[in-house]
Order: sequence, then structure tokens, then C-alpha cells
Amino acid sequence: MKDLYQRKINYMRISVTDLCNLRCQYCMPEAGIADKKHHKEILSFEEMAEIVKAAAKIGVNKIRITGGEPLVRKGIVNFISTISQIDGINDIAITTNGLLLKEMAKDLKEAGLKRLNISIDTLKPDRFKEITRGGDLSRVLDGIQEALRLQMKPIKLNAVVIGGFNEDEIQDLVRLTMADDIDVRFIELMPIGEASNWAKERFISNEEIKNRIGDMMALEGDPSSPAKYYRLPRAKGRVGFINPISSHFCESCNRIRLTSDGKLKPCLHSNQEVDIMDIVRRNPSELQQVLERAILLKPEKHYLYTTQHEIGHRNMSEIGG
Ligand code: GTP
Ligand code: 5AD
Ligand code: SF4
Repeated sequence: MKDLYQRKINYMRISVTDLCNLRCQYCMPEAGIADKKHHKEILSFEEMAEIVKAAAKIGVNKIRITGGEPLVRKGIVNFISTISQIDGINDIAITTNGLLLKEMAKDLKEAGLKRLNISIDTLKPDRFKEITRGGDLSRVLDGIQEALRLQMKPIKLNAVVIGGFNEDEIQDLVRLTMADDIDVRFIELMPIGEASNWAKERFISNEEIKNRIGDMMALEGDPSSPAKYYRLPRAKGRVGFINPISSHFCESCNRIRLTSDGKLKPCLHSNQEVDIMDIVRRNPSELQQVLERAILLKPEKHYLYTTQHEIGHRNMSEIGG
């Protein structure tokens, strides 16, 4: 289905939980999410699958599962297996912090998971502990190795570059693309949620990062992907840049989001939400209509840094990026 600006919406991001086994400084408060939701306030996997079925009927063919940390929700492997059997869904991906990946990768692959995005901002164990408030880097690295061993493809690593923290690791991160077919993508820090009041020195533009890396070949990209890709000479993998704020990505945005507490979010950077919890519980025959309504509410673009922007109600961990 197309929205009001002729964008074809074929991609749904589902945040299956707002809980996480890490507390990344830019994403979550140190104490975690203040009030843990009662399980009745969270969509069950059966309800999420009903929503995916309805979404598939109006043209969604790609699902990305996000969190919080999606792998901490019990039943996630079964959920993937269920949605991989829904007619019309032909691409299932996950965005994970990788902590549980070593143990779960094989089951995830067998369940039908095709693609993995793993967040990793630093390759130094002490820094990783600091930015994630306690995480063990070796588990993430083991998870990446396991995914490579199982030939899960593509594997994309997401790194948020933070001024004064990991900017000296840009070359080390980029080097990971040399020997393995891994994409390393730099994400500009977004001033939302926990990071909304951070000092401006912590925000480093991708332009700056690209200049620091030096010589790379620009690659042809998918216009609906937020990343622009390059390759280092003789590298197997690619280097990507995601400019969530400055890029022209909105023009070709193909996404709609579903939160674990049953709201459709037409845009990442808008507070507008459409309730779907009540519908899936009381009027499932209206699911398609509600999805269509949410798609028609998609704004033309985000209004960050303009007078029209309202501060977001949710942390990133509740939306899943
Ligand atoms: P694929 O294109 O399927 O690989 O997914 P992705 O790169 O969008 O997924 P991922 O979850 O790895 O997100 C990477 C970064 O892109 C995160 O920081 C997201 O917040 C950002 N991002 C994802 N979707 C959007 C979007 O709709 N708008 C904006 N502005 N940023 C987005
Ligand atoms: N700015 C940029 N990226 C962020 N992420 C979480 N919060 C922010 C933020 N404020 C990233 C995570 C993950 C992806 C889904 O979003 O690091 O890789
Ligand atoms: Fe958890 Fe990801 Fe947020 Fe870190 S960025 S706290 S891993 S949800």
C-alpha cells in the first residue's frame, strides 16, 4: 500500500519488548525502564502474528524484529518461525545487541531468520562495559563469530560514534570489513530519549567520520535503506553510513513500526501513534483498516531541529530504532 506521499510501505519493524539486558547510556536510563509493564499491557506473540498477517495482506513483505533486546523475550524463536510461514512475508531480520546470539543463532536460523544487525560501538572490553553499563564484549564477539560460522547473511554491525568516547576506534571498526563479509555501519547519534540533552561535542557527523577513514569506493545502494555504502580497497564487507537526521531517507521511507504495547508508529521521530491493541483483542476483522489508517498518517518527513518538532515521549528502547 502507498501512503499520501506515494511511498510504498512494505516494511514493518516490530519492537517485541522494551526490556533489555544492557543499559546503553544513549538509549536507556541506568535503572532501566521505570515501570515494568504488566504482561496484559504487552501484545502476545499470537497477537503480533495476527497483526503481521493483516500487514502482509496490504503489502508488507519484510519484518524487522527489534527491542529493547528482542532475544530476551521468551518464545522469540517460535514467533520467528510462525511469521516466516505467513503468506507474503519473505524477509525476516533482527536488530540485536548480540549478547545471547552465540546460544541462539542456530535456532534463529532454523526458524527462518535471514538477516542480522548487531549493535557494537566499541572493540575495547572496558569501554563496552562503560557504554552499556556492564556488558561483556566477548559474548557479542562470540555471537558474531557464530553467525559467520552459520553463514547468516548479511551481517551488519551498527556503531554509534560518540565524541570523546569511541571516535579513536573508527579505523579498527572499519578494518572488520576486510577479512569477512560483514558490513560496518556508522550511525549518527540522535538527540532522542536519553541522548536528547547530551553536549554537542558528543555528536559527530558521518561526513567527519568518512573523511577520517579516507579512500573508499562508493557503492550503488537501495534507496529505501537508511545506509549509504562504500568499500575499502580489497575489502570483503562494506562500510555504511546512517545519517538518521541529515539524510534524505524520509523521501523513500518504506516503514511502519509496531511497539510491544500495541501502538502503530507511522514515523520514528513523531509522537503520533495509533492504538492496535484494542483492535487485535476485540475487532480483529478491522486490523487491515487500522493499519491502512496508520500508513495514511505517515508524515512527509521528520521535523527534528525545526520548530514543529515535539520532544519524543519514548526512549529508543521502546521503539527499537
Ligand atoms: P535494514 O535496512 O533492514 O538493514 O535495517 P536498518 O538499517 O533500518 O535497521 P537497524 O535496526 O539496524 O537500524 C539502524 C539505524 O537506522 C538505527 O539507528 C535506526 O534508528 C535508524 N533507522 C531505522 N529506521 C529508521 C527510520 O525510519 N527513520 C530514521 N530516521 N532512522 C531510522
Ligand atoms: N542515536 C543513534 N542510534 C541509536 N541507537 C539507539 N539509540 C540511539 C541514538 N540515540 C541505535 C542502537 C542500535 C540501533 C537500533 O539504534 O545502537 O544499533
Ligand atoms: Fe539495549 Fe540496544 Fe538500547 Fe543498548 S541500544 S540498551 S542494547 S536496546
